Amino acid sequence: MHFSHFTLALACLATVSGAVVLKRDTPTQVYNGSGWIENIAVRSNGNVLLSHLDVPELWSFDPSTKAGTKVASFPGALGLTGITEIKPDVFVVVSGNFSVSNFSITAGSWGVWKVDLTGAAAKTTFLKLIPESGFVIGVTPFDNETFFIADAAKGTLYKMSITTGDYSVVLADSSMKPPSNAFIQEGIHGLKYYEGYLYFTNTFGGTYNKVKIDQVTAKTSGAVVSILTSLTDVEDFAFAPDGSVYTAARSTGVARIYANGTRTQIATVDTASSVAFGRGAKDKATLYVSSSGGGLYTIATS
Ligand SMILES: *[C@@H]1O[C@H](CO)[C@@H](O)[C@H](O)[C@H]1NC(C)=O
Ligand SMILES: *[C@@H]1O[C@H](CO)[C@@H](O)[C@H](O)[C@H]1NC(C)=O
Ligand SMILES: *[C@@H]1O[C@H](CO)[C@@H](O)[C@H](O)[C@H]1NC(C)=O
Ligand SMILES: *[C@@H]1O[C@H](CO)[C@@H](O)[C@H](O)[C@H]1NC(C)=O
Ligand SMILES: *[C@@H]1O[C@H](CO)[C@@H](O)[C@H](O)[C@H]1NC(C)=O
Repeated sequence: MHFSHFTLALACLATVSGAVVLKRDTPTQVYNGSGWIENIAVRSNGNVLLSHLDVPELWSFDPSTKAGTKVASFPGALGLTGITEIKPDVFVVVSGNFSVSNFSITAGSWGVWKVDLTGAAAKTTFLKLIPESGFVIGVTPFDNETFFIADAAKGTLYKMSITTGDYSVVLADSSMKPPSNAFIQEGIHGLKYYEGYLYFTNTFGGTYNKVKIDQVTAKTSGAVVSILTSLTDVEDFAFAPDGSVYTAARSTGVARIYANGTRTQIATVDTASSVAFGRGAKDKATLYVSSSGGGLYTIATS
């Protein structure tokens, strides 16, 4: 929708990328927001936090009432990208300047906020500006003090402290860089630290990869391992209880990648940007899918 020729071209590519189509679960649209939802995170109370790229605002969707409410605004930036929970009801949110009208990205504008939702009112604190940043999107916790954060333009992985904002480079690798002919400078995007490995997508590189992380030092151990290549505009992903992942891709929707590397197309969601599982008794097997058209969808996974 925002760049339909581009989406069309990618959709054509998708048919030759060799996805195995086993079943397609129909997504239900549960929320019609406006603007561009880039990333989502589910709170322990079941509400889904929605980070907006078109405005610097964090919203919350309540699955029981299907209503969306604004949680906080973030001054000094055009929008938000990644969001993750670092300790119970404390979130890390990335902000910076990406224009959703012309896709220009401002280097040096990317920074990190701490959003504390443990009290009656949301408390936001600007943690750190990353002056050398190109385009920061993905973020994932290492433990309750340290999180990983990645620069999609430069192909750099950092670790940062939620207490001090101090950060350092963990890895700079060609597998994390966008290809030179990329539509925008968007390489490493979705990040998840899971069972001793950092898993990541490279959106315009079309890859899904992992690298082993030392569980004490948070340093990499060994080289990046490529799990899948020839993917199309893959963005965020979420681990299911069985160790498979569900991926969101702008042009193709939601797919599932099993631990053995087999990939299955699950559903078509227009401009899918992010996925996350519910955390309540009723929606544990529900996959929430956001879109850059401002929608939130659910897919029943069992
Ligand atoms: C959202 O809009 C679509 C298209 O107009 C409609 O089919 C759907 O029922 C709406 N969903 C909600 C939750 O409002
Ligand atoms: C760390 O944070 C996670 C996610 O919120 C939580 O499940 C876990 O209990 C936390 N651990 C400690 C020691 O706070
Ligand atoms: C792109 O749009 C932003 C505002 O959204 C504006 O500040 C910037 O100048 C525009 N850049 C180009 C190259 O048109
Ligand atoms: C990012 O955009 C905001 C809002 O327009 C502006 O105040 C800020 O100066 C911009 N940052 C950079 C580094 O250009
Ligand atoms: C990979 O795992 C899935 C899920 O268990 C299974 O359906 C599929 O047949 C496996 N593929 C291969 C090549 O082993």
